[in-house]
Formats: sequence, structure tokens, C-alpha cells
Amino acid sequence: MSMNEVREALRTRFEADAILGATALPIVPPDAVPRSTGPTGPVRASTTTDPDELRRRLATLQTLDETQVRGCRKCGLADGRTQTVFGQGSVAARIVFVGEAPGFEEDRTGQPFVGRAGELLTAMIERGMGLRRDDVYICNVIKCRPPNNRTPAPDEIAACCPYLFEQLRTIQPEVIVALGAPAAQTLLNTRESIGKLRGRFHDFYPSGSALVGDPVPLMPTFHPAYLLRSPWEKAKAWEDLKLVLTRLELPIPRKT
Ligand code: URA
Repeated sequence: MSMNEVREALRTRFEADAILGATALPIVPPDAVPRSTGPTGPVRASTTTDPDELRRRLATLQTLDETQVRGCRKCGLADGRTQTVFGQGSVAARIVFVGEAPGFEEDRTGQPFVGRAGELLTAMIERGMGLRRDDVYICNVIKCRPPNNRTPAPDEIAACCPYLFEQLRTIQPEVIVALGAPAAQTLLNTRESIGKLRGRFHDFYPSGSALVGDPVPLMPTFHPAYLLRSPWEKAKAWEDLKLVLTRLELPIPRKT
């Protein structure tokens, strides 16, 4: 490894620690932890500002939630849920984050990513990317909590993922971030590991078929719950998020 590569690796690691929480002994005293200066240039927050289009998207998602998802009994997870967790955020979002399935807090509140993993995801979006959580859209592959937060089974994913595809077709994001293996594997129709998939964009076809329609760039990255257990991987996740910002021509917030 050259000196330049070592320097670059260390810079990424320190940036990731500053944004996503330190992973090792605090080398820098807390007062000196860099703060995000936020976006420095003009930031386009939405895919469209056309009010008719936004109303149409809102109505489509509301109808999907109220007429299909809330009462869904397509798999056994319906028996154990307190409520379904549809999704949250802006229907004009340029980025959609897709997680795995609701956990305890999400099942209790009906909102995605509100537990510990959700706190980290919010930090990644707000402190890291310099965006507002309200300006992106967040949802899951599975809308009901699996017992003891186990990984969803293939038949549960197959039953539930048409709802996710409809959400993505409605919102028409410019980039999708798949958080963890179940989300990335479901959306890309692959069994490849998240370690191999992350770090570069893949084509996602909202139609569900690689031969139909325009693909949407999809960035797989590590799930925040995994990052809580394996904090040394945060630097890689930060690299992935920076690629997303660059793709959208959004400024990478400088840490002062
Ligand atoms: N993990 C997920 O994948 N989704 C949530 O909503 C919460 C935790």
C-alpha cells in the first residue's frame, strides 16, 4: 500500500468515525469531533415539484397501504404483528432506503427504522449525507415483524415484495440504497453476499424484469444493525454513501 493509499484509508476511517460514531478508542477528544457543515451548494431535494404528480403518488401509496398492506394475510407473519409498517418519508424523494423488516420498536410504532438501527440510519442520512430524514423515503422488504427479528424466509419475501416494488414504481427515486443482504438480494434477484455486492451501483428494474423499462441505480450497503455489531465496517458504508451523493451531484458535506 502506498503512502497516499494509507492516508486516504485513514481519512475515510476518521470521517466515518466522526459521522457514524467512533469505532475504537477516542483518539480525538469529544469537543474536537468534527461537525458536519451540511451541504454547501444548491441541493435539489425532490424528483418533482409538480403538485398533481405528488398528489397522485401520495394517493397511490395511501391506497396500497389502506386496501392491501394493513389487512394483508399472505403469510404467517400476519399472526404475530402488532401492526404493519408501510414506509415513511417524502413521495418526491430522490433516494429510497430499503431495509429488511420491522423490529420491536417498528412493530410497536408502525414506523420504519425508529429503534437503535434507525438512530444510526438517521445519523448516516443527516450527519453523514447532510440530508433531512424527511426528504428521503424509508421502507422495508417485509412489512410485518418476523418473530425474534429472525431473517425473513423466502416465501415471506416472495409474498411481501410486490408491495415494495409498487412503492418504488410510485416514488420513482433516482437512487435506491439497499440496506443489508435481504434487501439487496431481493431487489437484484441474486444470492451474492452483501460484501461482494456493496461498493458499486447495480441496475434495479422496477418492472421486476431486466428486459422492461429503465433501470434505477441501486447501491447495496451494510445494514445499520450490522454496523452496530461490526463498527469497523462503518468506513465502507460511508464510502458507499459518498458514491450515492456523487451520483446525485450532491455535495459531500465537509467535516470541519
Ligand atoms: N431493521 C430494518 O431492516 N428495518 C427497520 O425498520 C428496522 C430495523
